[in-house]
Amino acid sequence: MNRARHIAIIMDGNGRWAKLREQKRAKGHEAGAKTVRAITEFCSRNEDIQRLTLYAFSTENWKRPTLEVEFLMKLLQKYLENELESYLQNNIRFEPIGDLRAFSKSLQHTIQNVKEKTAHCDGLVQSLALNYGAHDEILRAINKIKNSQESITKEMLTNALDCKDDVDLIIRTGGDKRLSNFLLWQAAYAELFFTDTLWPDFTTDELEKIIKDFTKIERKFGGLK
Ligand code: IPE
Ligand code: IPE
Ligand code: MG
Repeated sequence: MNRARHIAIIMDGNGRWAKLREQKRAKGHEAGAKTVRAITEFCSRNEDIQRLTLYAFSTENWKRPTLEVEFLMKLLQKYLENELESYLQNNIRFEPIGDLRAFSKSLQHTIQNVKEKTAHCDGLVQSLALNYGAHDEILRAINKIKNSQESITKEMLTNALDCKDDVDLIIRTGGDKRLSNFLLWQAAYAELFFTDTLWPDFTTDELEKIIKDFTKIERKFGGLK
């Protein structure tokens, strides 16, 4: 039976969720933040799951209207400030991935603070992908190691990435079937699950069902079974 050790989620559909309710997109993002909390706590109680990587803001999301980007930044700041206690209570370590230098000093400070305060937690790792894009991550990694005298190995590149762990299971909510520049290196042998459920409506029951289906898949990694 497979174990879903590293789960990654493309949390899509907040805007459409709000539109269906004739609300502003911001309301969808607020509702989405509640789902993040519920899913994270569920994963922290599951013994198999060691890492949960959540796509929260991509390197391409800066293309959105300024007001929406600003709202997302404020929401992230508020979320992290409120969540610190819950991370500590649930023994969750917070490890952001992505290029954080693009964020305001104050947001960078909050991110760093939560990271440091939870560094000793040895339960679930919740990794938020913030200003994350796989192309950007791979290019930053190559630039870190390009002056090495030896030829670059798979191990060297992996170690230079923000996320050093292969992904077992990628879930995308919101109905689209694409990766949108998420964990392209780490997803080499990931199992992909797509659901029409919009992120604010995604439940721990649905996650449990996906994990159950995942455990039954025959993973061959190119070999024969
Ligand atoms: C995902 O929801 C959240 C972010 C990308 C920040 P969207 O905002 O993309 O929602 P839809 O896809 O427009 O419904
Ligand atoms: C992917 O969703 C990024 C996040 C969930 C943060 P998008 O809504 O940005 O993706 P596209 O534009 O539909 O591919
Ligand atoms: Mg979207």
